[in-house]
Amino acid sequence: MYICNCNGITDKEVETALNAGVERWDDVHAFYGCEPCCGQCQCEIVEAIVDRDSNADDALPAAAMAMAG
Ligand code: FES
Repeated sequence: MYICNCNGITDKEVETALNAGVERWDDVHAFYGCEPCCGQCQCEIVEAIVDRDSNADDALPAAAMAMAG
């Protein structure tokens, strides 16, 4: 399933980027050598980052970092 229609980034590719340590939503794009365009994928990617970090003590700061940019 595509998460970012502008760049053709799928949910699996987002997961791969997050597993590699990406901390911000727009860094997912950078991971694949592209840049965000419309930004409509921001919420879904941020949700994925928060889900990944949900068991961490610093989940809220991670969410704030994910929204930055
Ligand atoms: S859907 Fe990701 S930048 Fe447009």
